[in-house]
This record gives sequence, structure tokens and C-alpha cells, in this order.
Amino acid sequence: MSTEILRNSSPELVALDSAEVFVLIDNVSDGLSSVPDGVTNEMDNIMEAGAKSFSGETLCFACFGISLILTGKVGDQVRTVLFDAGPNGIAIEHNVSNLGIDMGVIEAVVLSHGHTDHASGLPTAIKMSAQANGGGRVPVHVNPEMFSHRAEVLDNGDIFLSENIPTIEVMEQAGAQVINDPAQRNLLGDLFYLSGEIPRTTSYELGLPVQVRRNADDTDWEPDPWLMDERYMAVHVQGKGIMVFTACSHAGLINVLRHARETFAPIPLYGVMGGFHLAGGLFEPIIPETVRDLAEFDLKVIVPGHCTGWRATRAMLDAFGEDIVLPSAVGRRHIY
Ligand SMILES: [Fe+2]
Repeated sequence: MSTEILRNSSPELVALDSAEVFVLIDNVSDGLSSVPDGVTNEMDNIMEAGAKSFSGETLCFACFGISLILTGKVGDQVRTVLFDAGPNGIAIEHNVSNLGIDMGVIEAVVLSHGHTDHASGLPTAIKMSAQANGGGRVPVHVNPEMFSHRAEVLDNGDIFLSENIPTIEVMEQAGAQVINDPAQRNLLGDLFYLSGEIPRTTSYELGLPVQVRRNADDTDWEPDPWLMDERYMAVHVQGKGIMVFTACSHAGLINVLRHARETFAPIPLYGVMGGFHLAGGLFEPIIPETVRDLAEFDLKVIVPGHCTGWRATRAMLDAFGEDIVLPSAVGRRHIY
């Protein structure tokens, strides 16, 4: 069985020979900056995929959201998970085509939490995977709280609706086999870990205070600041440690990393990649505490993307240096 639901036991991951991450969608396009060994730029990747000239059509779409293709290699096993699918199917289709990605190799899809910038590309991604694998159902991992109808309360008190994420029925119509369960689990022969609920332990990481959701009888809005549906993923790379993938970090980056450290001890954390949610007036004030506490993990790799914001990225670069911190960009491939 390729999915193991872990209700009480601790997850034991198979140590990978290597992990590859393809950044299918991210906020930023940066195909020119030089990158360290083990990382290839969007430009190299579109040329490898067959681009014959530099043109607007061959470049990837960067847009607000994230989608990572995670591939674990161990011995002769090569297995692949799609972690989130960005804000729309247009970017998925375009970037998959330009990067020459075979969607048929995706054996599982994971949604990190119930927000449109991570979820609205799912039906297209599922459809493309199912078509490319010959019509087999694609396992899609979600949990019930993700399907809340959400909104934000603006400064003037108005409600600004968030697009609902695709329903289970829509995902099934696209070709999904939906696993709707809040528990932590290992995926694909213990090569990948998907967390359960992330404990909130820091004093300064406060979720999304402006968020509300429809109440159970759909008569009013109720506070929904904690986003307890959020999950992160992790892999264990042999000789390096645990690489954590956190798509939006509404739980707080430090809460995510403390939970990962506790979950996998004594294996050390190696790195973290994703959206760290430190942009905007509500979050920029906690950049100093976050960067201070990030030091306790002694990470070798930090890849801030999506909702991290340039101020937090700059603060991390100042604190840890370019050998550790590499800002993420769409179309890059990272090998660990
Ligand atoms: Fe996000």
C-alpha cells in the first residue's frame, strides 16, 4: 500500500539517495541570477525541454502561489509527489509544457491548506496526471477543514471573499481518488512524510488574524485565524537530514520547524523551502523573532519563496549568507 495513515506512531522515512524539487509555480521569475551547484535555472531548464529561442512564450508564468514537484530517488526507485498546484490551471499547463514535465510520473498530490493560491490549479494538474498515466486515478491528499468557505475582514470592516478551493467532487471529476483525512501519513513507500496538525507553540506566530469562515449552519462569519488545516511535507536525504517543504507557513515557520525537529529526532533538519508568510504589515513585525529563532536549527539550506516577501528574504540573507539562503524562483530545479 502506498499510503500509510499514522495516527499514533512516529513516521520513519526511507533515507533517499537524493531529492529533486522542480519549482512549477512561484511568485517570482528570476531566470538570470547565478545559482549554486545542484540548482539549475529556468533558462537552462526550458532549453533542456526543447526551447529553441528566447521568447515570451517559452518563459514560465510566475504568479502568486506555489507548486512543487518533489521526486525521491533511492536505489532504482524514483517516485514523485506534486505538492500544491498554484492559483490556476493556466500556469500549470503552460509551465508543465515549457519545462517538459511528464505529469504521468506523479503518483500522489498533496494540498497544503485550503487557500486558492495553492489549490485552484488542482483540477488541471489532476486531469493532466490522469491523462498522462493512462487514465489511472490520482491519489489526492486533503483534510476536511480545508473546505471551509473563507474570507478576510478588511480594515473598514468589509468582507473580502476568498475563492473556494475545488470541491472533492470537482477533483474526482478531474480524475482524483481523494483521501480526506486530518492525520499525518507517509506516502509512496515511506519516501515522503505529510504532517498532521502543526502545534502552535511560539508566542509571536499568530496565524492569519483577519481570516473568517462561514459557520456550520452558513448563517454568519466566524473567526478562523489559525488555519489548523495546514500541513507540511518532509523527506530524509541520506547523509544530510530532513528537508522540510512548507507551502505557506500560516502555522508559523518556527512552529513548522520545531514540529519537524521533534518528529524526526535524532535526525537533524537539513533545510527548509517554501512560503514562509512574512510579507505584509501584519507579518513583517515578526521577521526579527523569526530570523533569531531560525538560527537554532542550524539549517544548511533555506529557500524562501512565495509569500516570504523581500524584507524577510533580505533579513535571512543578512543573517545566514548566500551559501545557505537562495531565494526561490519559478522553473528552477534543486537537487539535494
Ligand atoms: Fe499561500
